[in-house]
Amino acid sequence: MSEDDSSTSVPTPIVVKLAAGTYFWCACGESQHQPFCDGSHRTANANANLDASEPLKWKLDEDKRVALCTCKRTATPPLCDGSHG
Ligand code: FES
Repeated sequence: MSEDDSSTSVPTPIVVKLAAGTYFWCACGESQHQPFCDGSHRTANANANLDASEPLKWKLDEDKRVALCTCKRTATPPLCDGSHG
């Protein structure tokens, strides 16, 4: 994986070239390894007494350059739909 735009604190998409495979996109926003799940949702859910935020299992069928949402407002997760703007 190579990241093109991961140094900003503004919740803009992270553009990456991914190999075909299965990925777990962070839906809760707590991962320290955005846009992918690092398991932090378990602690976040426990602290908030919630069971709502789980990672999205996502399968990419071919090597592809994609823009992955980090603001968590996209209607097409894990892909950015421009909602951050
Ligand atoms: S850390 Fe956010 S969904 Fe797992």
